[in-house]
Amino acid sequence: MSYLAHLRVWHGDADGGELRDHVVEAAEGEVVLDLVHRLQATECPDLAVRWNCKAGKCGSCSAEINGKPKLMCMTRMSTFATDEVITVTPMRTFPVIKDLVCDVSFNYVKAREVPAFEPPADLEPGEYRMQQVDVQRSQEFRKCIECFLCQDVCHVIRDHEDNKEAFSGPRFLMRVAELEMHPLDARGETRADRPDEAREEHGLGLCNITRCCTDVCPEHIQITDNALIPLKERAADRYYDPLLRLFRRKRD
Ligand code: SF4
Ligand code: SF4
Ligand code: FES
Repeated sequence: MSYLAHLRVWHGDADGGELRDHVVEAAEGEVVLDLVHRLQATECPDLAVRWNCKAGKCGSCSAEINGKPKLMCMTRMSTFATDEVITVTPMRTFPVIKDLVCDVSFNYVKAREVPAFEPPADLEPGEYRMQQVDVQRSQEFRKCIECFLCQDVCHVIRDHEDNKEAFSGPRFLMRVAELEMHPLDARGETRADRPDEAREEHGLGLCNITRCCTDVCPEHIQITDNALIPLKERAADRYYDPLLRLFRRKRD
């Protein structure tokens, strides 16, 4: 069954733009990205849209559909009524380049600010041993496809541009949490430097665990419960534990 769907798509660039209405043919089994492509192939050949895999795995086609951060390739047309107006806009948290394409380089800057895994000095590659339970704990975070929908939805930077310098966002706080949980990460003598860094360098304290990031994650990663809350607990232990504070003061 095919029908005519009503899309309302944002067109514009960094200087401004507008929502324009389009009637686009939709066929059974299609997703929003199919209709955006059809629009490109017909009346809007210059419509800019970023995509790659069309399988929910490359993280390129992030946008806001009816105001909610989603992957266009994983949003089925069947989830909308046939007479519903479907609004497609670029991610609001990042600067627009053109139409549905944003400049997400903020995320690459933040990624570079997280120090990499530090291997233990007394072990050679090939000698690393980990418990299966530790492997599994971080496996969940490795499902991340870097779609940046969690970054887009997070009110700390979505509504407050001036927080961008201090706050790395859920995706990169999750990366810090993953490294902090790694039993072989040798960063710092006590391996407790990661929570300190999360608080001081990545703005962990600005997160008020609203769970919006978890709600939009297409990989269903429990960002808040499994990464951010444990990291906050570790940072709080570290900050308020008098022995650890004394040790840190002596070391610094
Ligand atoms: S839980 Fe924290 S990181 Fe996630 S959206 Fe809310 S404030 Fe942002
Ligand atoms: S954590 Fe989830 S929402 Fe955030 S970038 Fe990774 S896959 Fe996307
Ligand atoms: S096109 Fe790759 S995630 Fe949508």
